[in-house]
Amino acid sequence: MGKAVEFIKINKYFPGVHVLKDVSFSVEEGEVHALLGENGAGKSTILNILHGVYSEYEGTVKLHGETVHFMHPNDAIRDGKISKVHQETMVVEELTVGQNVTLGYEPKKGLFVDFNKMHKDVDEILSELNCNFKSRDIVRTLTAGQKQMIAIAKALYHHSTIISLDEPTASLTQKETEALFAVIEKLKKSGVTILYVSHHLEEIFQICDRATVLRDGEFITQLNVKETTREEMIHAMVGRSVASVADRLKPSPATDEVVLKVENLSNGKDFNDISFELHRGEILGFFGLIGAGRSEVMRTIIGADQKIGGKMYLMGKEITGRWNTTKALKNRIGLLPEDRKTQGFMNQFSNIDNISISSLDKYMSGPFLDEGKKKKNAERFFEEMDINPKKPDYLTKNMSGGNQQKVILARWMSADTDIIIFDEPTKGVDVAAKAEIYRLMEELVAEGKSLIVISSELPEAMGISDRLIVMSEGHISAELTDREKFDTDEILDYAIGGK
Ligand SMILES: Nc1ncnc2c1ncn2[C@@H]1O[C@H](COP(=O)(O)OP(=O)(O)OP(=O)(O)O)[C@@H](O)[C@H]1O
Ligand SMILES: [Mg+2]
Repeated sequence: MGKAVEFIKINKYFPGVHVLKDVSFSVEEGEVHALLGENGAGKSTILNILHGVYSEYEGTVKLHGETVHFMHPNDAIRDGKISKVHQETMVVEELTVGQNVTLGYEPKKGLFVDFNKMHKDVDEILSELNCNFKSRDIVRTLTAGQKQMIAIAKALYHHSTIISLDEPTASLTQKETEALFAVIEKLKKSGVTILYVSHHLEEIFQICDRATVLRDGEFITQLNVKETTREEMIHAMVGRSVASVADRLKPSPATDEVVLKVENLSNGKDFNDISFELHRGEILGFFGLIGAGRSEVMRTIIGADQKIGGKMYLMGKEITGRWNTTKALKNRIGLLPEDRKTQGFMNQFSNIDNISISSLDKYMSGPFLDEGKKKKNAERFFEEMDINPKKPDYLTKNMSGGNQQKVILARWMSADTDIIIFDEPTKGVDVAAKAEIYRLMEELVAEGKSLIVISSELPEAMGISDRLIVMSEGHISAELTDREKFDTDEILDYAIGGK
């Protein structure tokens, strides 16, 4: 078998940063090849070079032995038969699924688009992917996970021989992930080469043959996955050993004081009859499958959405009248949303400004905003969370996906709030930084704050929560109060509504 992809001495610069440094490696035809590395290592950048998103770089890229240099992703799809399913999915919300999948390459009958054939072909691909939506559905009505599947369907539609997936499972449900893995297996058997990026190492062990490790823009090593342990993999990525699972290192400072109480909360569609209490100094976990309604409950609590029934009490006082996020913040309760790209940070803001935007009071010197104080606060988080590159004055949008996440976390960690709700706080964050984030959460509760953490990763939910609420299909299926007795099978049972 030959080489599907060869990178030869690739160098890539962005203003002021040397992002890829003489990177050379190759990927065999028909293998599932992982790209591993910490946040900011250069994984997405090298894939963007491969797919013509970045056409300016030094070095040579070869596909099946031939040198290529794509100027646009469409050239890559058409001429190179290579497709990407990347961190940010690009879809046109108002079009149908079929139109999105075939965009620019619609089947024609004479001069006109043959919609019947389009939907028939696309429906066939969707059923192969085990998708529960149809080609004629409007994309706007789909979940994040379903939208991700459109990109995969598009790769299949173009009969790509090389497909790269950049953190494809981040917003997929368990079922969608399994369907995706089955598809990857099928594609591999038919000779398609897969490049795969994920921070979930168990996925790497499940589906990948070999792995290339990048660190700080440099090629480090290539590993045969079957002959490598988890520890060796992490060591190659980080250059040192890291505590691999979520855990609490300090005793919990939780008290009996109830800071938030929710009674029979409903919004009429996503969740019903939600009741729970949050205590001061507590980390309260919300576990469930994607789509269980957890995010919707939290959005209602901070006033981003409205309830149709039930009551909410903050510090023992009932919330009355029209509740909104501004009022919530004034009452010292904030939410770190799951969808960071659209709800998380200001595009034109630097890291310093994005971090300080919810805590401006803290940086006043008399009547003036003290830029020095703002900068100092940002620098503290850059250090503690190992945000890279160490450039607090950079625009956040120019940071890697995982580092953007850390910036938004820093914003909520510095905010003057008593209650912080984190929706999937470590999504897209590498193993080393995850551990740092757990430590910062422990610091926050030690300061007397109370945290709600939504997580779809069971080890994380079990590891960091004092108590754990499990949601299934819009209702609470269990409230587990003793973290010593958390049990994987039992919790999963509750999550799928089996109990
Ligand atoms: N448009 C840009 N301008 C400036 N710097 C950039 C730009 N895009 C990426 N970078 C920098 O390039 C480096 C590599 O980023 P890249 O997105 O490739 O990392 P990654 O390995 O995909 O990380 P993650 O796991 O967080 O997604 C980072 O330091 C990032 O800040
Ligand atoms: Mg990336």
